[in-house]
Amino acid sequence: MIKQCVVGLLLIILLAPAGYAQVRITVDASRPGEAISPTMYGVFFEDINFGADGGLYAELVKNRSFEFDLPLRGWRILKRGGAEGRAYAVRNEARPRNPRYLRIEIDEQGLGFGLHNEGFRGMGVKQGVPCNLSLETRRGKGNVTGLRAELVGSDQTTMAECRITGLTENWQTLKCRLVPSRTDSKATLNILFQGEGTVDIDMVSLFPTDTWKKRENGLRADLVQLLSDMKPGFLRFPGGCIVEGFDLSQRYQWKNTVGDLKDRVVTINRWNFEFKHRPTPDYYQSFGLGFYEYFLLAEDLGAEPMPIINCGMACQFNTAELTPLEELAPYIQDALDLIEFANGPVSSRWGKLRADLGHPLPFNMKMLGIGNEQWGPQYIERYIPFAKAVKDRYPGIKLIAATGSDGTIFPNGEAEIEYLWEQWRKLKPEFVDEHFYRDPEWFLENTDWYDNYDRSGPKLFVGEYAAQSVGVGSPDNRNTLKCALYEAAFMTGMERNADVVRMSCYAPLFGHEEAWQWRPDLIWFDNLKSYGSVNYHVQKLFSLNPGTHMVPSQVSGVPGINVKSRMLNVSTTWDKNAREVIVKAVNVGERLLTATMDLKGTQVGKTMKVIVLSSGKLTDENTLEEPDKIVPQETIAKIPGTSFDVEFKPYSFTLLRIPVK
Ligand code: AHR
Repeated sequence: MIKQCVVGLLLIILLAPAGYAQVRITVDASRPGEAISPTMYGVFFEDINFGADGGLYAELVKNRSFEFDLPLRGWRILKRGGAEGRAYAVRNEARPRNPRYLRIEIDEQGLGFGLHNEGFRGMGVKQGVPCNLSLETRRGKGNVTGLRAELVGSDQTTMAECRITGLTENWQTLKCRLVPSRTDSKATLNILFQGEGTVDIDMVSLFPTDTWKKRENGLRADLVQLLSDMKPGFLRFPGGCIVEGFDLSQRYQWKNTVGDLKDRVVTINRWNFEFKHRPTPDYYQSFGLGFYEYFLLAEDLGAEPMPIINCGMACQFNTAELTPLEELAPYIQDALDLIEFANGPVSSRWGKLRADLGHPLPFNMKMLGIGNEQWGPQYIERYIPFAKAVKDRYPGIKLIAATGSDGTIFPNGEAEIEYLWEQWRKLKPEFVDEHFYRDPEWFLENTDWYDNYDRSGPKLFVGEYAAQSVGVGSPDNRNTLKCALYEAAFMTGMERNADVVRMSCYAPLFGHEEAWQWRPDLIWFDNLKSYGSVNYHVQKLFSLNPGTHMVPSQVSGVPGINVKSRMLNVSTTWDKNAREVIVKAVNVGERLLTATMDLKGTQVGKTMKVIVLSSGKLTDENTLEEPDKIVPQETIAKIPGTSFDVEFKPYSFTLLRIPVK
């Protein structure tokens, strides 16, 4: 017996790489700790990178109401076979929220006079999936009686046609249906008028019918599916810097985003011109995806809605405009009305609007962010009256306060964050939002970031973070395995501190392959396809497997990579419903690591689920061409007893679900 043990010991020593001690993970499953918040892992949505218009919002026509800076941006006049005429914008002051329409004057019909819309880097259409064309129109003098719409493929041949007749002298909404004869990610739309004379048009829309839950004015089903698969605990919206605006005139105003589509106030998207290396002059917000749709989306995802509201401050990286304190009342009223819109009875003004839009039941909103990345005493001066007004009227609403941007990238950052934390300790918002856009090494070296946070202060919302493979704002950043693994290592640190870190989300969420401004992003897409980055799979694994309670564990014998970072990074939790211990282990090293799992104080089941996310090189990534290059692999493994060895592959994130009795 003794001899056998010695042989066994020798074998382990021989197998262990030179200089490596035996790694041991000891979990006492009989002593679960504090509850983990069900909102621990969520998603952050901002209309950046064509996230909404051109992305999640399924509208195919760009500049449908001619309200972009240039009324014909996205449009082109078509003149076929001798056709002559012109098109120009007319301003209707009686409709101040959507003042422009397009007047078309046709002198010679020739073989066709009309308009061409280019879509959002083309239009993604699928064979046999009908698209509804609708437009507001009226005829003027002359004999324009109708129009013909053509869906044109990337090879310039017509893929579908439909006709509209019956134009009258009064504005009407007229419709027809285009059914594509094939699939194309770069289709475009032509509208050709029949007759000669004057015709006015507005709100030209082409909407696919295969939206999420088949909703009219709905969202792209594949993109929502990717979110739904994550089962996010919350949905933060609408940003991000978009909340603040370049200046206050461009700030996000939720009341401009609800109700009839033609009354939503089209506004330039601040990411249109933010980066000189990625100008996007055709980037506007139609608000077809507005606050009602955001609340619906949160409900569909089973996520807590988390709106963020402007607090009288424009983006401090841009104009940093301020609303004078004595003029803050309408901003505060917007916040109060928003809560009434989400939660109020149908007898209330804003609750009635929600009911009229189709949702009489409250959305049960529980949280509100006041400002996005605000800093300085001006923020505190504005936060105080906001918080007082909200709490006086709605004491149950939990407030989220900011700590500026990432301390390393905004002016005088670290000192500002300290100043803000001092204020938050006194003012006691329920959550304080921290952002980290840093190099991958920082994430690996700071897995202990939350170990020493004050347990008696406000709770943490890690509201935006992502490892930047090259640098913040660099167009060369990639969603590499290295970034994903180092983020995962950091997340094990968040999870070990789940008593103080109550919510977290990666940012930004979406990136259009041809129209992004900022990378890395969690989910990438073109006009038809989409995929999750490796980072997405990390987020998803955490989000699907948070556990219900913390479980302390001791991890010993782990080799270091440098003074601050470890090769293996571990967190352990307990799922009281499934009665399983969940182990998350991130091996950032290039070698296989074998660890002994010791489960104390419990008996274990016979098999466990093992999920591994890994790849051969740290530079590996998923792409549109290879969307599933790095995806989790799931197996079932036997459990020999309460103590057993587990192998952690090189460059891997491993998740174990161990049943215990
Ligand atoms: O996620 C991109 C931007 O980064 C967000 O809009 C902003 O909050 C942060 O600076």
